[in-house]
Amino acid sequence: MRPIKALVVKALVVMAFLCSLCLIFLYSSLNLHLAHRHRALLEVSANRRSEISFETLSTKPVPTYLRPTLTKDSTKSVLIQVTVTPTPDLHQAAVFATLKKAVPQNTAYWNRVFYSGIRRLDKGGNSTRLDWSHCRHDPEQLRTNIHDFTSYPELHQDFLLGMECRNPPILIDQPEKCTSEDGETFLLFAIKSTPRNFEQRQAVRETWGREALYGGGVRVRIVFLLGSSSLDEPDLSQLLVLEARHHGDLLQWDFHDSFFNLTLKEQVFYRWVLSRCPKVSFVFKGDDDVFANTEAILGYLQSLEPNKNSTLYLGQIISTASPLRDSKSKYYIPPTFYDGPYPAYAGGGGYLFSGSLIRPLYSVSKFLPFYPIDDVYSGMCFNALGILPEAHDGFQTFDIREQDRENPCVHKELLLVHRRSPQQIIRLWRSIHNPVLIC
Ligand SMILES: *[C@@H]1O[C@H](CO)[C@@H](O)[C@H](O)[C@H]1NC(C)=O
Ligand SMILES: *[C@@H]1O[C@H](CO)[C@@H](O)[C@H](O)[C@H]1NC(C)=O
Ligand SMILES: *[C@@H]1O[C@H](CO)[C@@H](O)[C@H](O)[C@H]1NC(C)=O
Repeated sequence: MRPIKALVVKALVVMAFLCSLCLIFLYSSLNLHLAHRHRALLEVSANRRSEISFETLSTKPVPTYLRPTLTKDSTKSVLIQVTVTPTPDLHQAAVFATLKKAVPQNTAYWNRVFYSGIRRLDKGGNSTRLDWSHCRHDPEQLRTNIHDFTSYPELHQDFLLGMECRNPPILIDQPEKCTSEDGETFLLFAIKSTPRNFEQRQAVRETWGREALYGGGVRVRIVFLLGSSSLDEPDLSQLLVLEARHHGDLLQWDFHDSFFNLTLKEQVFYRWVLSRCPKVSFVFKGDDDVFANTEAILGYLQSLEPNKNSTLYLGQIISTASPLRDSKSKYYIPPTFYDGPYPAYAGGGGYLFSGSLIRPLYSVSKFLPFYPIDDVYSGMCFNALGILPEAHDGFQTFDIREQDRENPCVHKELLLVHRRSPQQIIRLWRSIHNPVLIC
């Protein structure tokens, strides 16, 4: 026979579970659409609310059905957290679980830093330091932790020294981007550019990146994401200020715009959207040298199943990649830096995702050490949320067959193709919108 105590505990647990089921039902029926939109947020926050903090940027009130867990009464909060767990939607253990399966636990530096972050998270500790000043590593620390650090290429050494640096100051902002009265942003184009790429930006603005109300009454807006030039480059800051004033679509932060700083650009972008465009429905993140078929993208998004539109991560999927070990490659990763396969990710030339994921992505990024390749890093962030990328044949980040590259009919069917010069972008755009074109 079992001890009475165990039975009582069991009965209590069952009661607690039933109570909370009732509560959840009550709240969700009151607030169904809210529940839907905030599902992803909850996946992250249900368990780790104390560590993953939303307070710095949260301008919105806490969703109604989250409030009970935030009461000061700790018994209540424990009760609800226990009951929240079995609901598949709110399964907090999902956070980082898939990524832990993908990242082997070994002696490589990134792997070690990743697992020490997870341990900190499990203990309820703080995320990585979030300041910009005094963030650079002591080289001595890196030499101690990576035995061949001094033989890394200079760029990799520089990346590692600044790996903890986050939240650089913003130089050019667009605080009103999403606040005008002409409607919520349905699709936000977030285009990675660099200060000198004036011509590419203008080609995008004049063609697929045009800000407008499109068919079906959906609003499209665009921002270009820039870092700053380095000291040995011409000073373009005055021109950028003029450009920003004229077009209202530049964002610039005070960090050197380089390939290895694209992960930083990603993170500051999440942060920016949370404060300036928190209600955006979908984000297209891509390069300024791609050709995107905006009408086709909008058509795709408008026909999404309702259960898809809060968990979208769509593009050309690189599903079985591993770090390149050729030290001459742009994508070279030293074996003592990262060891293991990459989780499946969408090619960074251009991909689409749900705006409601930005908040959980930003939260996760606080615990995920930076990686020198930005689209791999994004894939890791989505993966940590338990969201796997979905492939769409319309995304051609490695370009299409040579003989099709000038063919408007082929481009009419695509959602994105990489890469195209400003002139090609303009020509393609005109030809696919030519009313006499027959495909
Ligand atoms: C840890 O979090 C606490 C409370 O949020 C904060 O006061 C403290 O400064 C943080 N410490 C570090 C090292 O970030
Ligand atoms: C990233 O930007 C910071 C700030 O400008 C700079 O110190 C660092 O060298 C850059 N890192 C890389 C890898 O380019
Ligand atoms: C999600 O899908 C439904 C049904 O298609 C649609 O009415 C709703 O506006 C969509 N939400 C977003 C954020 O696009």
